[in-house]
Amino acid sequence: MKGSSSVGNHLLKQQNMIMILMLFWFTKLGMVLGHNHVLGVQPLSKIAIHKTLLALDNMAAIAAAPTLLGISGEDTAWVTVKVLNPMPSNDDWVGVFSPAKFDSGNCAPAPDSIGWQETPYICQAPIKYKFANHDNSNYLKTGAAVLKFQLINQREDFSFALFSGGLSLPKLVAVSKNVRFFNPKAPVYPRLALGKSWDEMTVTWTSGYDHRDAIPFVEYVSNGGEVRRAPAGTLTFNRNSMCGEPARTVGWRDPGFIHTSFLKNLWPNLRTFSFKAPPFPGQNSLQRVIIFGDMGKAERDGSNEYADYQPGSLNTTDRLIEDLANYDIVFHIGDMPYANGYISQWDQFTAQVQEISARVPYMIASGNHERDWPNTGSFYDTPDSGGECGVPAETMYYYPAENKAKFWYKADYGMFRFCIADSEHDWREGTEQYKFIEHCLATVDRKQQPWLIFAAHRPLGYSSNSWYGMEGSFEEPMGRESLQKLWQKYKVDIAFYGHVHNYERVCPIYQNQCVNEEKTHYSGTVNGTIHVVVGGGGSHLSDFVASPPVWSIYRDRDFGFGKLTAFNHSYLMFEYKKSSDGLVYDYFTIHRDYRDVLACVHDGCEKITSAT
Ligand SMILES: [Fe+2]
Repeated sequence: MKGSSSVGNHLLKQQNMIMILMLFWFTKLGMVLGHNHVLGVQPLSKIAIHKTLLALDNMAAIAAAPTLLGISGEDTAWVTVKVLNPMPSNDDWVGVFSPAKFDSGNCAPAPDSIGWQETPYICQAPIKYKFANHDNSNYLKTGAAVLKFQLINQREDFSFALFSGGLSLPKLVAVSKNVRFFNPKAPVYPRLALGKSWDEMTVTWTSGYDHRDAIPFVEYVSNGGEVRRAPAGTLTFNRNSMCGEPARTVGWRDPGFIHTSFLKNLWPNLRTFSFKAPPFPGQNSLQRVIIFGDMGKAERDGSNEYADYQPGSLNTTDRLIEDLANYDIVFHIGDMPYANGYISQWDQFTAQVQEISARVPYMIASGNHERDWPNTGSFYDTPDSGGECGVPAETMYYYPAENKAKFWYKADYGMFRFCIADSEHDWREGTEQYKFIEHCLATVDRKQQPWLIFAAHRPLGYSSNSWYGMEGSFEEPMGRESLQKLWQKYKVDIAFYGHVHNYERVCPIYQNQCVNEEKTHYSGTVNGTIHVVVGGGGSHLSDFVASPPVWSIYRDRDFGFGKLTAFNHSYLMFEYKKSSDGLVYDYFTIHRDYRDVLACVHDGCEKITSAT
């Protein structure tokens, strides 16, 4: 016994540190390099860039420094931009363009464009912008401004352009010399995700290298152990795979190449340098899960009218980065960058969350801002994706769906099973997705994986958000009519949603009725599902109806996120934390044993084991 345990310990020690390197094998060079209900508006959509008139002024100037960035391998750099305009006005602005050379084709001028006959007009939105008087209160008097921009490595060079005429009728006054990263093609923005089996982790990253230039692979190194390599697949998408504007026109930007490598046969729960391998299904150990929706992105340099569209985004990101040691996996259940057809913003988002996604699996769900576009098969015929129709989300992140265009999957993580639904595709009885949801819920062994979690972007269960209140339904239309019987039949513990930008917790519910008077410490027979809205990740907040329905236990119109902690097979805790201070403002616990799951309630006993 002693011998075998020391062998086990020895192995664990040997593999204690794993370092992941995203690498390419250069075939040509023969060398290895290490390396909806929208109140806010996507800020870039305010710019009528295709209406730009040329008004170049020799007396005006714009200069950026330094011009070479990332010489020590950094993928983020600050640039100082100096502006001089002899005819300043308060609506002058500076746009950051990448590629630096303006695209003057591939988009038709707007019918009401005054100057479209003048070529070249610009057919490429900037990746970010600031007004010239930002932090320059004397600009109107002096015509001089100094602006600081933070750039991320996005595979192409950059230029800075000074415009007058505001955002709606831009006049191009001056353009800077080009700025570039030392290695613009460098692999960047690593993101982990669970694979299709519990012992598989996937590593996804972005680069400028096509598979014809270089063979991508991940090298992972055990401390004192062997160096292993896993090959990576390479994906991208092009303008023609976008469904409409602006994604096909001014919002288009080449996304580079997205590489995903599959690391198999990982040791369960292994502590590693950059990530902890997943626990095996049923494993009894501390397991902590972060879940939220609708975080969005914002610019730390104050660009794009600083955090105007997703005011809580950076706070949420920063709280999660600070707390990295205290959770194991993240679920971001839809509405990720709110790029809305401005494809550059996907890089900005993957860069913003990279400190999180490089350390723990970053699991996603599809939201309306990823998928919805008229006449493309989305359940809602709205233009919320800005013409993306799901393609960037399906390519930028890995998730273990059978078909990535059908954004539903199961994820086993220790004592949890997550059934992630796609509220942007039909989920009702008789659909392919409904069959998947039932299969996911029915096939879990609750004595090993007692904590059964359902999640979808839109509130398919219960929310007292004001627009659902006005409809009188307190749910996404047709949300729970089919699904309620599955949640009940398979005794789902908790159902999570986003889309509504606030926090709300609902009593354990069965057939629209609370089944338990208790509000905080639940125990015993599982006879209802607790519904939780965690859509306050960062986007502008949503209002509740004035009087909470009887089933609503706790509401908070603020930015925040949820955390689940499974201590063992019998004890689960949920906490709601605000993004502003990271403190707990609401919580509940579930204490129970396997017999409480098996106990006959409502629909009877036999259903619990009748897997389909
Ligand atoms: Fe949404």
